[in-house]
Order: sequence, then C-alpha cells, then structure tokens
Amino acid sequence: MKLKSLLAAGLTLAMLAGCSSSTPAADDGAKEDEGSAAAEAKTYNVGVAIYQFNDNFMTLYRNEIESYFASKETDEVKYNVTIVDGKNDMAEQSNQIDSFITQGMDVIILNLVQTSSADSIIDKVVGAGIPLVLINREPLGDNGDESYTRILDNPTVCYVGADARQSGTYQGEIIAELADHGDINGDGKVSYVMIEGDPENVDAQYRTEYSIKALEDAGIEVECLDDQVGNWDQTKGQEIAANALTQYGDAVEVIFCNNDAMALGAAASITAANRTVGEDIYLVGVDALDECVEMVNKGTMTGTVLNDAKGQADTAVDVAIDLLNGKSIQNYYWVDYVKVVKE
Ligand code: BGC
Repeated sequence: MKLKSLLAAGLTLAMLAGCSSSTPAADDGAKEDEGSAAAEAKTYNVGVAIYQFNDNFMTLYRNEIESYFASKETDEVKYNVTIVDGKNDMAEQSNQIDSFITQGMDVIILNLVQTSSADSIIDKVVGAGIPLVLINREPLGDNGDESYTRILDNPTVCYVGADARQSGTYQGEIIAELADHGDINGDGKVSYVMIEGDPENVDAQYRTEYSIKALEDAGIEVECLDDQVGNWDQTKGQEIAANALTQYGDAVEVIFCNNDAMALGAAASITAANRTVGEDIYLVGVDALDECVEMVNKGTMTGTVLNDAKGQADTAVDVAIDLLNGKSIQNYYWVDYVKVVKE
C-alpha cells in the first residue's frame, strides 16, 4: 500500500501542477517518450471496504482483489485501488463508505460488517451514482433468500458469493461418508460440538444448519453436546474446543467448525487434550486454508471445504470492471464450494 500512497501523492501533485497525465511520471528522462501513451491512460478509482483485515480468509480474498486488478491493467487503463479495514465496526465502515463517496470512487466493492446495515449503505452508494459489488456477506431478502430488492431492483448493484448451504452440506457429508459415519463409540449416534462464526452472518447460520441436516438426511442420528459462537476467530475456536473437551471428554466424536481459522484453534485443543483426529475424534472446517489442506492430507484434520477466495475475488473484480465499462450485470454471481478430503 505504501507504493499506492506514493502513486496517489504523485497523482495529486501532477494534478496540482496542471498536468493532464493521469499516471504519475516515472522519471524525467522517460517522461517525454511516454508522454502521449500516459496522456491516454484512464485511471479508475476503486474503493474496497473489507469487514476486518484480521481474518485469514478475507486476507486471501483482498490480496487476490488487489493482484487481479493489477493484472487487468493495460497501457490505456489503470486501477487505483484503495482497500480499507472496517475493523469489524459498522460505524467505522459507514464512515469509510462516506469517504469513498466524497473521494468520488468509480466503483465500490463492499464486504459488509453487518448485513443488517445493507439497506442504508446501499442507498447512499446508489444515491451517489456509484456502482456497487457486495461480497462475502450476503444480505438476504424478506423471504430469507435471494429476493433482496436492493439487489434485484438496482441495475448497478450485485452480490458475488458462494452458497453457504453447499459448504454446510459438504461438511456433513464428509462425516457421513466415513466408515463409521462419525459414530466412533458405536452408540448409534454422532455426538458433536458446533463452533459457529458470527451469528449475524448467513454463512455461519447455513453451515451450522446444513452440516447437521446432511447427517440427518443420511439417516444418521445426532446429538449436540455444545454449540458456541467463536466469531470466525482462531483463539475463540481453541477456547471453545478446550472447554467442550474438558466438559464432555470422550463423548465428543466430531467437532464442526464454521471455518478453518476456528478449526485450527480446535486442532490445538484436540492435541492438548491428548486426542487424535481420525482415531478418537473427527474435525471439519470450511475455507481450505493452505495449512488446513496440509492437515487434511496428514490426517490431523478430517476434512474441509474449499471456499474459493480466488474465484470469488476474480469474479468481483471482473464484475466491477464490467460496471466501469457500463456493461449490464447479473444480480447474483455464485462460485462453487469444493469438498476437500484426504486423497
Ligand atoms: C469464511 C470465514 C470468514 C467469513 C468472513 C466466511 O465465508 O468462511 O473464514 O471469516 O467469511 O465474513
């Protein structure tokens, strides 16, 4: 980002000096030769608001947004991408959006802190005439589905994401497809602990619901020993798993985590409790962070589900560029999840 600030500063200076070039001049020697090409380059200002930088998955996502925009630059088109950290604070994010509007961003990509604030945020962005791509945290319509009028009725607003029901279903299937179907102690039921993400987030709600539904749909009896909110956070995941393992001991057969960060925490607690994944306990997450895929291959995690940060980020950028070019877009764009188990 340092380089960006320098470039932005260069831009401002160039503008103050009455220079018509929209790209900062590199050095005096090259300036004249590049003059005509640079003069033709069009720079778009892109505002990206992330709910929180301190999130493993959203870090992959935002890095991909930045590098994919860079890969789309040509001599004629440049993208000046500003990415801001909402610090999991809706008031802070709302101010950041106000500032994007004041700065005259050409398009905004938004990972809401709270989907309950979607109405007011979308209204102000649309009111300012700025196209908007919502990502990762889906605001649902009144019917609790993809009937959200602000997306359906605004031709310059869309949502790019993955259907969290699918990820939950895959988590349940990973357990159902094991030889013992998750019933390690053979008492006829799968006794589990659920560690949930932010409950305001539909990804957390759906993964919690659909992982268990997949087991039930497979005819497996389930017993919930504990269900706690870990807010997508590794340390919280570790604490919740540690407490559950102390309280319920060997009765815990499966720990479901709504994401891999919390599963990494749970894995540490499983080791600390002298339990062994694949032998006396199972552990599943979602995201397929590199370290978790490695653990799945080593057997220290039972499985995870790829939440395709690259696919979603690239789609969001492609749609943002379509919007910049005045192309018409869809209301919703979906990227598939993929089940990840040991080969
Ligand atoms: C990811 C989580 C992440 C959350 C942020 C989810 O889709 O699986 O890892 O913390 O998005 O909103």
